[in-house]
Amino acid sequence: MAILLAAPDRNISKLSRRVQVLAPELDVRTYPDSGDLSEIVFAVLWKHPPGLLASLSGLKAVTSLGAGVEHLLADPDLPAGLPVGRLVGPRLAADMAAYLIAQVLWHWKGLNRFSELQRQRQWEPYSPHSLPTIGLLGTGQLGRAAARAFQALDLPVAGWSRSGTGPDSVAMHSGPDGLVELAEQSDYLICLLPLTERTRGILNADLFRTMKPEAVLINVGRGEHLIESDLIPALNAGRPALAILDVFQTEPLPADHPFWKHPKIRITPHCSAITRTDEAAELIIKSYRRVLAGGDPPGKVTRKLGY
Ligand code: GLV
Repeated sequence: MAILLAAPDRNISKLSRRVQVLAPELDVRTYPDSGDLSEIVFAVLWKHPPGLLASLSGLKAVTSLGAGVEHLLADPDLPAGLPVGRLVGPRLAADMAAYLIAQVLWHWKGLNRFSELQRQRQWEPYSPHSLPTIGLLGTGQLGRAAARAFQALDLPVAGWSRSGTGPDSVAMHSGPDGLVELAEQSDYLICLLPLTERTRGILNADLFRTMKPEAVLINVGRGEHLIESDLIPALNAGRPALAILDVFQTEPLPADHPFWKHPKIRITPHCSAITRTDEAAELIIKSYRRVLAGGDPPGKVTRKLGY
């Protein structure tokens, strides 16, 4: 019985060593040194190569090495009924909240203006008068951690989710009308949604038209949530006022992509929250033990909902 870690676009040797240190009794293999594939009972995958799943005949469960599972669910070789989990721990959620707080505060408190003013030796105090409303698209584990972080600063938080359920302290919305209500009131509209057939393209021209002119769009979900060709015309028309993007349809973002040099777009290279080795290793071991004991992997996905 063995665990396979396969993430060809990442260096996971440290992760594999960490799992081995924490649980020396486990047989941990790292793709492509996968050994006898029939011995693999649990696989932790991130953008795994096509065909790999079909070759793992003894699998009891599979888990995404991260928050998103769309790369797994899109694999036609994923056996029906095989439990699918994901690795989201409190550290990942806190990292995401820290990124969002940093982006929102930098903009809201007008901190960017002070570098230039310092160069000019200008003394021009600035402090915003009103409190911004934070609109969270997605109130799962990451959305809830973000809500707590913003609420700790006494900022009003509203949310939108498929089911309309969210933390009690967050004014929740759902459905197409709820989406518009959220967009209309948000000063920072933040996409933390999972990518599913229902959420693909949710950030589009129709939604942008309902936003306040001074509002900021932040996408830390997936590039496919955004209709990229709708964004620049919307920014040029003044709604939203700024887009902060961490995820893109093609990553790395191609050098000739118009987003790079648009003055109302701020780019970070898909690093808002990256699964950390220590937390991932602990979650992998916990998941594996649970699966061996006949349970579901933590963060089990409801496959028909896509998250
Ligand atoms: C990162 O994008 C993840 O899904 O963990």
